[in-house]
Amino acid sequence: MYKGKKTIHWFTILEDMGQGAYGQVKLAQYKPPRKQKVVLKYVTKKRILVDTWIRDRKLGTIPLEIHVLQYLRNYPHRNVVDMLDFFEDEVNYYIEMSPHGIPGMDLFDYIELRTNMEEAECRSIFYQVASAVDHLHKVGVVHRDIKDENIVLDGDGNIKLIDFGSAAYLKNGPFTVFVGTIDYAAPEVLRGQPYGGKEQDVWAAGILLYTIMYKENPFYDSNEILNAELRIPYNMSDASEALMRRMLKRNVAARPTMEDVLNDPWLKDFDPQVDSNSSSWLASAERKRTASSSVDCI
Ligand SMILES: Nc1ncnc2c1ncn2[C@@H]1O[C@H](COP(=O)(O)OP(=O)(O)OP(=O)(O)O)[C@@H](O)[C@H]1O
Ligand SMILES: [Mg+2]
Repeated sequence: MYKGKKTIHWFTILEDMGQGAYGQVKLAQYKPPRKQKVVLKYVTKKRILVDTWIRDRKLGTIPLEIHVLQYLRNYPHRNVVDMLDFFEDEVNYYIEMSPHGIPGMDLFDYIELRTNMEEAECRSIFYQVASAVDHLHKVGVVHRDIKDENIVLDGDGNIKLIDFGSAAYLKNGPFTVFVGTIDYAAPEVLRGQPYGGKEQDVWAAGILLYTIMYKENPFYDSNEILNAELRIPYNMSDASEALMRRMLKRNVAARPTMEDVLNDPWLKDFDPQVDSNSSSWLASAERKRTASSSVDCI
């Protein structure tokens, strides 16, 4: 079955998991005897922007997204998605990953479903995002599209940052081209100023923190991002609000680094080992789903 170069015919496609600007993501399964389940992200060659191809001595000319994921295999982190393999045909590249959590359920969906999340759970999710991003920055990568749709969770409250479709190497900055999602874009990026990358990930993570805590966006358009006062709908805690305000500083130089964020009073004493079982709700949802589906062992 698995002779020669890997192709899409080695797999049975089980379900669609999302559709983005450049491709599609599917839950797939190796045809017998292997039967392992994987997530395949299709990256359509025709749609890859000219400046996001990268030439590599060993790998040839490949999309930057795959190059970054391949590089990150040298620096694994529990909250960053790991690429298992990649392959290509005439039309697409395919990024092969392990499925994390409930297929098709990302933090965006989770926030919609979980209407009254406690602060402890918000903190656990955010802590893991912050440590993922801090890790990326330390190994020289900027994500540039941090948002709830690009975070997946499993039944035990463990999160992984996914979607390196907008990522870049820090050494290639400062950047001028806008990438990512308007709602999460930092004011300086919207103004078209050159940006280094790390500070903008911190801004986006600040927007994310607000979204996790209040289930709504802080700013509704670019004008608000540039000018509006931060509206706090209700008080969750003074400490979380203080961190949000630090991260959403319009003055780039005054914004904390991701390491500073991890050392903020709201997160500093957080012990993920002790606090990570706060999302038993999702665990039971996942158990129910697994029990009622014919799909085995995710
Ligand atoms: N490893 C994974 N485990 C579980 N779900 C995943 C995984 N990778 C992707 N997904 C799901 O598929 C969706 C789309 O994936 P991703 O964000 O990588 O692609 P995209 O947004 O379509 O791509 P792009 O932003 O590059 O156009 C995610 O929001 C998530 O729900
Ligand atoms: Mg995405």
